Amino acid sequence: MSGSPAAVPVLRLEGVYKSFQQTDVLRGIDLTVNEHEVVALIGASGSGKSTLLRVINLLERVDDGRVWLQGEDISDPRTKIDAVRARIGVVFQHYNLFPHLSVLDNVTLASRSVHGIPRRAAEKRALELLDAIGLADKARDYPDRLSGGQQQRAAIVRAIATDPELLLLDEVTSALDPELVGEVLDLVRQLKKTGTTIVMATHEMSFARDVADRVAFLDQGSVLELGTPAEVFGSPREERTREFLARIPR
Ligand SMILES: Nc1ncnc2c1ncn2[C@@H]1O[C@H](COP(=O)(O)OP(=O)(O)O)[C@@H](O)[C@H]1O
Ligand SMILES: [Mg+2]
Repeated sequence: MSGSPAAVPVLRLEGVYKSFQQTDVLRGIDLTVNEHEVVALIGASGSGKSTLLRVINLLERVDDGRVWLQGEDISDPRTKIDAVRARIGVVFQHYNLFPHLSVLDNVTLASRSVHGIPRRAAEKRALELLDAIGLADKARDYPDRLSGGQQQRAAIVRAIATDPELLLLDEVTSALDPELVGEVLDLVRQLKKTGTTIVMATHEMSFARDVADRVAFLDQGSVLELGTPAEVFGSPREERTREFLARIPR
């Protein structure tokens, strides 16, 4: 762990509860994410991974508990949702890019409309980012001209174009054909190298093992096990973690 003892974590959740109708989906989640850290959320379908990410991004409000972003309580009902969202990048499983906007306009939209960066500067930065991932020649194309992997990479670039304090990735490869998964995961690896703080739900276990600093195993809305990849994958403490990992094809 780096930084001084006084360093404020990028994200802290304490006792987060969320239910829909009668169903308790998150049952007391505690989680801290430090700067430059990559935390992978793993767990069976329905265990609450997406809801957790949606709570962090204020797409859902917590029923109980607190969420802090850089020390600011964003679970406070008075929080300005748009202001928080502007500080967090998000990429979902699919349908990330606006189909009626060019790749370049997709990538620059938030910089221009939310952060007020002039078009020329926003486009210069966007083209640098697209160039870095080999997509500069697609900048003027509409998303449907790109492969699924290219679209997801463009979506990730869009999410980081505003230099968010935190990047949330929700199963960003699970809608892709297998041969396109690698290029998207490589981009996430690159982001980790540049110090992006990331919370990602994934069922790519070898990727989580390889890239995550810590892994949280969610089971029925609780973080049942939390540790380094070596701990969680190598010597899981909980029987349910072992069962889950045993069901995942290697
Ligand atoms: N808006 C909603 N209304 C009702 N139930 C929901 C809603 N969103 C999620 N759920 C339920 O919450 C549980 C957890 O879902 P989710 O967070 O999507 O899990 P995961 O991403 O781990 O698959 C599931 O049982 C799901 O059906
Ligand atoms: Mg999900």
